[in-house]
Amino acid sequence: MQSLPNRPTAEPVADVLIIGGGVIGCSIAYHLSLAGSRVLLLEREHLAVGASGVSAGMLAPQVEAPFDDAFFALTLRGRAEHAPLAQTLLEDVGLDVECRATGILRVARDEAERVELQRRQRWQTARGLRAEWLEPNELGDCEPLLAGAAGRLLAGGLWLPDEGQVRSPRLVQALAAASVKRGARLLEGTWAVSLETEGDRIVGVRTPAGALHAPMVVLAAGVWSKDLARTVGLEVPVGPVKGQVITLRALNRFPCHVVWTGECYVVPKVDGQVILGATEEDGNYDRRPTLAGLGMLAEAALEFLPWAGQFTVEGMWAGLRPAAPDRYPIVGRAPGYDNLILATAHFRNGVLLGPLTGRWVADLIRTGTLAPELAPFSPERFQTGSADASP
Ligand code: GLY
Repeated sequence: MQSLPNRPTAEPVADVLIIGGGVIGCSIAYHLSLAGSRVLLLEREHLAVGASGVSAGMLAPQVEAPFDDAFFALTLRGRAEHAPLAQTLLEDVGLDVECRATGILRVARDEAERVELQRRQRWQTARGLRAEWLEPNELGDCEPLLAGAAGRLLAGGLWLPDEGQVRSPRLVQALAAASVKRGARLLEGTWAVSLETEGDRIVGVRTPAGALHAPMVVLAAGVWSKDLARTVGLEVPVGPVKGQVITLRALNRFPCHVVWTGECYVVPKVDGQVILGATEEDGNYDRRPTLAGLGMLAEAALEFLPWAGQFTVEGMWAGLRPAAPDRYPIVGRAPGYDNLILATAHFRNGVLLGPLTGRWVADLIRTGTLAPELAPFSPERFQTGSADASP
């Protein structure tokens, strides 16, 4: 977006240097800029090139949660963050991030799934959340594409009216635009080769064009965070779980809601596009879609939603979800480095948690205090000898 400073310099280029132009990095840039910090963000390709650009944008804590725990509480907070942010961004930079509470219908394909989803319905309603059980013959009332035989072949479904969605790449774009409006600089096509240290302090980032110095560095580079952390001897156990999606277009009959099975989801977007996702391929760094991915998604969708056979195919994409071994985010100060913040490993929840993570990381940087809700997700949990190895 903008050019590099003329030459490497020991002078700080910003108050905070952020590595990674996905939803996490851009959200941190946004919240820091709002609070008056000078921000420089480095992105090695272009904004939202990674998982954020491929994500279907579901805001789905209830549908993803097997049980009630600290992570579930975090994801509910994350969901609540989106609607007010979307309104603010619309007024601020004129971009509609398509935040809609369209609800999610999680269908059960067999008796075992029915039992499991009814168990979830019980604990979620006991917690005061809206979650309604639908029998097979009621599915069509909720989602017309499941009317008749399509619905009757299923074993029922869990209707979650408060789940929602956003248009993920547009959210990144809007956060970036709002940051730039407040003076943030975003350098696309700029590779962060390594972190730079002096003693036990991080002093900046080396790029092919030279070193950039800043008193605070945030590593929000998704799956690439691990390699960068290693340049200063830090082990950040984050690896890829590749997800492939197919973008479709519904020409006449269009799904009204997001519909999930255990294997795939169908997400109708505001403009008539439908996103069908997603594979989960552990350890795969190859960002190209494959025929096997296409086959798996098509089969899974047609099995429960025969009408999907009428959708036309627009394209196919893949992204690398950054995942820790325990599948929880890694957010907080890097062990041994006071001025390096890690914000990565959001796995299936980067878009959902992006705005909240951005706000709380900005607070951490500006006040020195980490939100207590993030304590279970600190990088410290992977330190050898850590008493609490999982949240
Ligand atoms: N959040 C859905 C996915 O990662 O596939």
